[in-house]
Amino acid sequence: MKKKISLIGAGQIGGTLAHLISTKELADVVLFDVAEGIAKGKALDIAQSTAVDGHDVNLVGTSNYEDIKNSDVIIVTAGIPRKPGMTRDDLLSTNLKIIKEVAKGIKKTSPNAFVICITNPLDVIVMALQKYSGLPANKVVGMAGVLDTSRFKYFLSQELKVPIKSINSLVLGGHGDTMVPMPNHTTINDKPIKKLVSEEKLKLIIERTRKGGAEIVKFLEKGSAFYAPAASGVDMAESYIKNLKKILPCAAYLNGEYGVQNVYAGVPVIIGNKGVEKIVEIKLNSNEKENFINSVKSVKDLFNAAIKIDSDLAN
Ligand code: APR
Repeated sequence: MKKKISLIGAGQIGGTLAHLISTKELADVVLFDVAEGIAKGKALDIAQSTAVDGHDVNLVGTSNYEDIKNSDVIIVTAGIPRKPGMTRDDLLSTNLKIIKEVAKGIKKTSPNAFVICITNPLDVIVMALQKYSGLPANKVVGMAGVLDTSRFKYFLSQELKVPIKSINSLVLGGHGDTMVPMPNHTTINDKPIKKLVSEEKLKLIIERTRKGGAEIVKFLEKGSAFYAPAASGVDMAESYIKNLKKILPCAAYLNGEYGVQNVYAGVPVIIGNKGVEKIVEIKLNSNEKENFINSVKSVKDLFNAAIKIDSDLAN
C-alpha cells in the first residue's frame, strides 16, 4: 500500500514539498492549510502535473484534520515566514500559537506518524510540537541541519569549483546565527577542507552559511527560502519511508548525548523506519564543543521565552 504524507501548511514550502514528493512518487499527499483554497488549488495543480510525466500519486487539499488521519509522515510548515530585517526568533509568539493547534490535530489523527517540523524558530518550535503533541521524541524531528549543511556544501563547491557530491560535511547546533559548521569534519574527495581552502576564505564561507537564510529573505522581500528547505525535508522523509538509515544532521531531542539534557539541537542522527534510531556522537574538539554548547544555550534561552508565552510548555 502507498504511504501517506500529510503536509501541514500549503504555502511556499508546503507546495514545493508536495511537488517533490509527487515527482519522486514517494507517497500519496494530503495538503492541509487553514486557507482551504490554497491547499485545494495547489493539490489540484500538482495532481494535473503528474499526468504529464505519468507519476502515480494521489493528491488532496483540505482544511479538515480528519483527512490527515493515519499519516505515515507529517511535515509541518504552518506558520509565518520571515520578512527582511526579522530574525527567526521574531516569529516565536505567532508560530507557537499555530503549532499548538497543529499538534492537537496530529495527536488526534496520527499519533504513530513520523513528524518533521520546518516552522521557525526551528529548534524551539520542534520542541514545543513534541511537548504539545505528546508523541515520542524519536518520532518528532526538526529540519535544519540538512539545509544548513547543503548551503555550506554549495558555497564550498562554488569556491573550489568541485562537484557537490565530492564534499562531505556537517553543520551542528541550533538553526540560527549560532549554528556550528564543522570544517574539521569537512572533506573533499576525502581530503580535509583545511588543506584546500585558506582560513580567511573558510571564515567567509562559514559566515555566509550562518546567514544563508537571511541572504535569501533580503532578495525575496515577501518571504523566506523554500526550494532548499523542501528538498531537505524530503530527504528526511525518504530515509524514514524507505528505511534508508541515512545519517542526517537534524534537530533531535538530546537526553544526555553531547552532555546536553532535555533540549532539541542539531546533531547527526540515523533516520530509519523507527524514526530517529540513533544519535551519532562525533568527537568535538574544545572549540567546537564550546560553540555547540553556546548554540544549545541560545535554544534554551528562547525556549524559556516560549514558556513565558505559554506556561503549558513548562510541564
Ligand atoms: N494551520 C495550518 N496552516 C496554517 C496555520 C494553521 N494554524 N496558520 C498558518 N498556516 C499556513 C498559511 O495559511 C500558509 O499557507 O501556513 C502556510 C505558511 O506558508 P508560507 O507563508 O508560504 O511560509 P513558508 O515559506 O512555507 O514557510 C513556513 O517554515 O522555514 C519556515 O520560517 C519559515 O516559519 C516559516 C515556515
